[in-house]
Amino acid sequence: MSEHGTYTELIALLDKHGAVYRTIDHAPQGATELVSELRGNALAQAAKCIIVMVKLGKKTTKYVLAVVPGDRRLDLGAVKALLGGTYISFASQETAERLAGSVSGTVLPFSFDEQLELIVDPALLEHDEIFFNAARLDRSLALSAKDYAEIAGPRVEPITEVPAAPGGKRNIDTVMDAVPEKWLPHVLAQVNDYDVKVANVEGEFSEHRHADTDEFFLVLAGRLRLELPDGTVELGPHEVFTVPRGTLHKPVAEPGTRILMFEPRGTVNTGDGNEGTTGVVLP
Ligand code: NI
Repeated sequence: MSEHGTYTELIALLDKHGAVYRTIDHAPQGATELVSELRGNALAQAAKCIIVMVKLGKKTTKYVLAVVPGDRRLDLGAVKALLGGTYISFASQETAERLAGSVSGTVLPFSFDEQLELIVDPALLEHDEIFFNAARLDRSLALSAKDYAEIAGPRVEPITEVPAAPGGKRNIDTVMDAVPEKWLPHVLAQVNDYDVKVANVEGEFSEHRHADTDEFFLVLAGRLRLELPDGTVELGPHEVFTVPRGTLHKPVAEPGTRILMFEPRGTVNTGDGNEGTTGVVLP
């Protein structure tokens, strides 16, 4: 469907229901923060629309259109838990645009595809009006939040992260000295859509692979062995290695080893389709 096809479909839907809305024309822009400035709306009133893929075991794949206020981050772990998923990641741009019927940056907070489940964070619906690109980069809508909820009929669930405390200075050793568990990653920092995770590790971890992402390792203390199909990589303190996506790896660590990993938010430590964890997010 073309950009304007989806736009026309949206306007027809709103008019059919007698929704209260206004259109706002602006310079072409799809990035939430920038377009909010052009429109003059508070970031919290911008409907940020993100399409994610959730796997339930190896055979079932679902897609979710997650809609959150522009000033908050989507909590992938919350969406994964809501669906009882075993793996979650952002949908590829191609898949997202196909399911949304519009280009990246103009995804609507409405689902016109039964494959796409709509979940909205309640914080967005607290406002009188919400703002979003109208399936095109050069025009937005301000829509009554009440009318939006009635017409779009979303599942309403808290799916945003608790905002990080200001000045999130942390000391790795202070935090991790208090963690007795082995192989349990803790998210110490977040960088865009990536998590910086640290874990105390010892002994063997299950062999696994990550189909969709590379995995960066830095050894902070101790020794980590990564058994790979083409050989074994031994890492000591301050040594780094990136396991390429799709590559089987079996981590084995000496007692007292501490590692740092850098990977996309939502990456599960046991790889694809297995029970595992995306890491403990520190308050
Ligand atoms: Ni891994």
